[in-house]
Amino acid sequence: MKEYILLVTIITQMSQRMKCISESKSIDLFDLTKPTTWRAMSRYYGAIEKHWKIPCNTCGTPHLGTGFHMGYTGSMGSMQPAIVPTEYLLSRLLVVDVSALTEHNPAMVLTLDVALQWPALKHDPIEPTLLFFKFGWKEADSWKINMKTCNCKVPGLSFELAEWIAANLSHVIGVATDTPTFESAQTRESSSTTVSKLLGMSGIYMIENVLYRKNMPEQGCLAITMPLKLLNAGYAPTRLTAFCPNSRSDRSVVLGLTKIDLHEKMPNSRLYDVNLDEILS
Ligand SMILES: *[C@@H]1O[C@H](CO)[C@@H](O)[C@H](O)[C@H]1NC(C)=O
Repeated sequence: MKEYILLVTIITQMSQRMKCISESKSIDLFDLTKPTTWRAMSRYYGAIEKHWKIPCNTCGTPHLGTGFHMGYTGSMGSMQPAIVPTEYLLSRLLVVDVSALTEHNPAMVLTLDVALQWPALKHDPIEPTLLFFKFGWKEADSWKINMKTCNCKVPGLSFELAEWIAANLSHVIGVATDTPTFESAQTRESSSTTVSKLLGMSGIYMIENVLYRKNMPEQGCLAITMPLKLLNAGYAPTRLTAFCPNSRSDRSVVLGLTKIDLHEKMPNSRLYDVNLDEILS
């Protein structure tokens, strides 16, 4: 029987010949997802369905769990999670750690000048890439957001930086953040010049409320993004998983399919014990 097996390999970038080392043990798997509850989701979608204006939506909704976002909620047309090409859901993951800056200024706006100090933002990556902005957001910060009074001290990207990413980083297919939103005080109040509108219209998806894992390396990881294929929604819950080299090195994880001959019998499972026709008739 011919079978395809998913191979996870580490490639040494330094090597001239791109030596392939099948070292699956040296790959760590990270779930970068924050859990949410059905209640939080249904409250949110209930409000959208009734066309309620959600107060301070651009503050982000901290307890919605990890969310996949394309432009404004309810906006029609091309900015919907459901139309994101499948090949955009497997990407390289690069961490941009700006948490040292938010220590002194929790509501920091990351300007283009400052951001260009990170090589990941200065140069267009070669492969499809998800940029993960690590602001150092903590669960306790989420409780400081007051949706009723629109009080939120959330760091974010400046509009100019978002323009730069959209115009000059053609291989960046998505951006992620550990905060509940990409909008800072600079863009939050605007209806036209928000980061999410600009990125969404440029086909760059956003993932919010991402759970940063401490031992995750800043480069070399592959990310798999799995948003619900929700129609007519700008925001969808998503699972985000990273495959990373487990030592801090110049290695990168790659995924590949290989064809193998399977001579052994398939492992026993309930499927073979049960006569499905009998059950269904
Ligand atoms: C893109 O890069 C060019 C060259 O560095 C620069 O002049 C231009 O302003 C950038 N575009 C945006 C929108 O930032």
